[in-house]
Amino acid sequence: MRSAVALALALLLPACADTELRLPASAEGAAIAQNPGASRSRYNVFACTTCHAVRPSEVGARLLPGAPLEGAARRPSFWGGETVHLHEAVERCWTFFMRGTPTDLDGRTGEALYAWLESLSPDGSTAGAQPVAQTYPRVVRPLGDGDATRAQAVWTRACASCHGAIGTGAGRLGPLVSIVPGDTQREHCDEVLPAGFTDRTTYVRTVVVEKVRHGSFLGYAGSMPPFSVEALSDDDVRDLTMLFRCP
Ligand code: HEC
Ligand code: HEC
Repeated sequence: MRSAVALALALLLPACADTELRLPASAEGAAIAQNPGASRSRYNVFACTTCHAVRPSEVGARLLPGAPLEGAARRPSFWGGETVHLHEAVERCWTFFMRGTPTDLDGRTGEALYAWLESLSPDGSTAGAQPVAQTYPRVVRPLGDGDATRAQAVWTRACASCHGAIGTGAGRLGPLVSIVPGDTQREHCDEVLPAGFTDRTTYVRTVVVEKVRHGSFLGYAGSMPPFSVEALSDDDVRDLTMLFRCP
């Protein structure tokens, strides 16, 4: 009797596991792409879809740092030509922004994500398959004064989804997302001015330009993504900097 039960279980279990594996990997990938928990870092608050629209039509009025993902699996190069490997393009986001470990992308999670990216580019479709222009200036310079009356509107489209409300941070994604402009002014207004700067407000605004253009790259710590010139124009950044000021 006991062995009959054991046998029945033994027959059932692989069958269950099988059913689970038959869930299409692309559906699993779609769920992972919307889940900030996927990277398993307790510091991460981003999902892929925080920074990327799936299709261009879903961008709306938002100014997103990442390109739409439809067609990405067919693109010949990524990150403005910095890499030709899809795996490396995704790994950058996974490790720099989402604080995930690269080995997770080599396993089931990566498999599901790539299956999903592939599914966004069905055979024969060329939608979104062209390389996306992305320019990240190495050196940033002061941009001069912008239009302060436009700053709030640019903030709402480009920054509020992560940072929440300007001044209070209400609605920000998590406690590690800076409260702007207060945190920046507190951190940088009292610094010894680097050569070439005579005015503190100009300096702090240039720090903001640098943060927006380089995110957590090129020596600036953190997990914020950079915005390319194509994703956010210098005119928009110039207007945004008007939100920052030193006493
Ligand atoms: C915090 C923002 C952010 C998150 C989260 C993020 N990315 Fe990115 N991603 C970017 C930025 C910025 C780029 C560089 C600009 C670009 O090429 O789209 C980029 C580039 C890419 C590219 C290359 C696109 C191209 O044509 O150059 C792919 C593919 C990609 N990301 C996929 C993903 C996937 C999949 C996830 C989730 C596992 C993810 N990203 C999470 C911001 C992000
Ligand atoms: C995808 C989410 C995300 C978006 C979009 C985003 N940020 Fe950030 N930002 C962060 C996070 C997280 C931090 C804190 C960690 C870090 O410094 O990278 C941060 C930090 C900053 C800082 C540094 C604050 C300090 O402590 O000095 C500034 C300035 C800033 N962001 C400005 C902006 C502006 C302006 C925009 C819109 C153009 C923007 N951010 C869009 C996530 C984001």
